[in-house]
Amino acid sequence: MRTPIIAGNWKLNNTISEAVALTTELKGLVTDCTGVEIIVAPTFTALHAVSGVLKGSNIHLAAQDVYWEDSGAFTGEVSAPMLKDVGCDYVIIGHSERRQYFGETNESVNQKVKAALSHDLKPIICVGEQLEDREAGRTETVIEDHITGGIADLSDAQLLSSVVAYEPVWAIGTGKTATPAQAQEVHSLIRKLLTDAYSDEVASQTRIQYGGSVKPENAAELMAQPDVDGALVGGASLQAESFAEIVKSAL
Ligand code: PGA
Repeated sequence: MRTPIIAGNWKLNNTISEAVALTTELKGLVTDCTGVEIIVAPTFTALHAVSGVLKGSNIHLAAQDVYWEDSGAFTGEVSAPMLKDVGCDYVIIGHSERRQYFGETNESVNQKVKAALSHDLKPIICVGEQLEDREAGRTETVIEDHITGGIADLSDAQLLSSVVAYEPVWAIGTGKTATPAQAQEVHSLIRKLLTDAYSDEVASQTRIQYGGSVKPENAAELMAQPDVDGALVGGASLQAESFAEIVKSAL
């Protein structure tokens, strides 16, 4: 009953022409894929061009971040109405790289999530523990902190418009994927936290993606887990073929 959702996070990669070429190739490879939601998240500078290529296709556009004010004296920022204007349906919020290098906190994540939702942009809200947290047995505490802090005060409808992405930081870009059992364990914890904060009905309809070294070889077994509803893909989304294979493993 939850439509699988596969998103490619291109991070700080691709010029406009490279982004257009990748999108064009991907579009051709996934035209027949139905029953799965497909998303690409280029850099801000490529959004407009990629948006043009995606018109009329089955691929949605996402940005990699957003600021919570609509406009004003906030040099360097991009707002939710601007992302809507360029054709985004989704926005990634609270990625661990933003938490780690750019001072993102649960509070700023929550402000951004609310701003996105108020402009009809669906947030992909990232949560995940560091290696030290896992080794010290703090995974649950960190996930609970990210979920309650980042997803605070949303209405049921707002939560249902959101996607949660569980990305263990130790698995991102390292080639070290969580085992399907490790992923399932945290995904079911997230669903339980959402059940406690909202309701069983809402939690059971909320999609939770796994991210961290997802590749064509491991995507199917991860997504076969009962609470894993898709993937947030970094490295493997930079090649149209491998990303398309991951999309197909969700079918
Ligand atoms: P990765 O990145 O697939 O390269 O590990 C995932 C992410 O950061 O979203």
